[in-house]
Amino acid sequence: MGVLAEIRSLGDHEGNDVIIRGWVHTTRTHGKIGFAVVRDGTGIVQCVFARKELSEPSWETFAALTQESTVRITGSVKADARAPGGYELVVRDVELVAASEEYPIQPKEHGVDFLLDHRHLWLRSAQQRAGLRIRHEVEQAIHDYFYTNGFTRIDTPIITSAIGEGGAGLFEIDYFGEPAYLAQTGQLYVEAAAAAFGKVYCFGPTFRAEKSKTRRHLTEFWMVEPEVAWADSEDNMRLQESFVTYLVERALERCRDELDVLERDTTTLERVAPPFPRVDYTDAVKILQEKGHDITWGDDLGAPHETALAELHDRPVFVYNYPKQAKAFYMKENPEDPRTVLCNDLLAPEGYGEIIGGSQREDDHARLLERIQEEKLPEAAYKWYLELRRYGSFPHAGFGLGVERTVGWIAGRHHIRELIPFPRMLNRIYP
Ligand code: 4AD
Ligand code: MG
Repeated sequence: MGVLAEIRSLGDHEGNDVIIRGWVHTTRTHGKIGFAVVRDGTGIVQCVFARKELSEPSWETFAALTQESTVRITGSVKADARAPGGYELVVRDVELVAASEEYPIQPKEHGVDFLLDHRHLWLRSAQQRAGLRIRHEVEQAIHDYFYTNGFTRIDTPIITSAIGEGGAGLFEIDYFGEPAYLAQTGQLYVEAAAAAFGKVYCFGPTFRAEKSKTRRHLTEFWMVEPEVAWADSEDNMRLQESFVTYLVERALERCRDELDVLERDTTTLERVAPPFPRVDYTDAVKILQEKGHDITWGDDLGAPHETALAELHDRPVFVYNYPKQAKAFYMKENPEDPRTVLCNDLLAPEGYGEIIGGSQREDDHARLLERIQEEKLPEAAYKWYLELRRYGSFPHAGFGLGVERTVGWIAGRHHIRELIPFPRMLNRIYP
């Protein structure tokens, strides 16, 4: 009899018998010796089956094992420098918990639609596990950063009546006969909370009925949105560069194995440190025009523009003070150029594009009301938001960082759908 052990801690049991439970990844036989690689979520280990050491039923059980069958294995832990994890298990007994028949995902190339249709199983693959572990680390790092820097976490509603980012891309639902929307952002609510707590953030799923079928669009994605009282746009960018640097450092420090599995070249990540370069929108347009891009002042930047600008720098780059018409209603007018607003996007290197959108907020009641009317937003739904500018208005700024885009960049994956366990996209809601 052995003690129950997790594969990651087999080293604590060297020379002793343990019991592991897990899923069979592969098996192979060399005459009277068999091998099964078993995964338990904490690690993988090669289990060695010697026919002459085993009972006949144990050997037969081994011989019948198929990919993804679940097993309970008793064996003794042996150091082996060549083995992944540094140990292998010399099997004494194996019990089949449940068989797996004709596992759909084979060690060969599958089309991406097939893999997405089998996402519930695809999650078990090494690269998918690595990407989602990095996501997990980045999410934990997000909370640690804000916790240690004195922010209070505010959970904001998913069902809302106030449109956050504009009419296009809304999921409308029927709320007892009234129209309501799935939140595009928690921002308006963290603005209210900033007057109560000073420094706050929300973290949760956000929804956009995006018709765009690109490698960086999901219809349901996770966003972290800090909001800081008394901060201006400059403070906001300083917070962003400090925060993003911390997230990258955490992944480099704690996800080495996962980055290796994904064959991520980490040299660009290692360069990430403040200050990040800053490019004024108006200058950005000139740079793009000189490079032959078809863009005129006033247009929002598209993906090719973002990639071209990011290529000029060795770390993430801020583009700041966009034209008012390209951005959301709540951004504060730039006193030095009222055609523009005090805002910024943060563009990741290597073609990953915008990972952050942020701004100083309009804190003047009259100007905000004017913007709501100009954008033809339903004024009644913003009564409470406008009131924040009547009862002790205050300068404040914040931003939203998209979790999947950020993790996609850190992990070096082409499409962000791999960095969320169950992606929601145009034409995909299964599984
Ligand atoms: O630039 P966005 O729209 O900004 C806001 O929502 C603000 N309310 C944030 C704030 O100031 N509190 O979105 C912020 C980020 C983007 O930079 C991007 O990383 C991500 O959210 N994002 C998406 N990620 C995946 N799929 C989509 N369809 C996304 N749309 C935005
Ligand atoms: Mg944006």
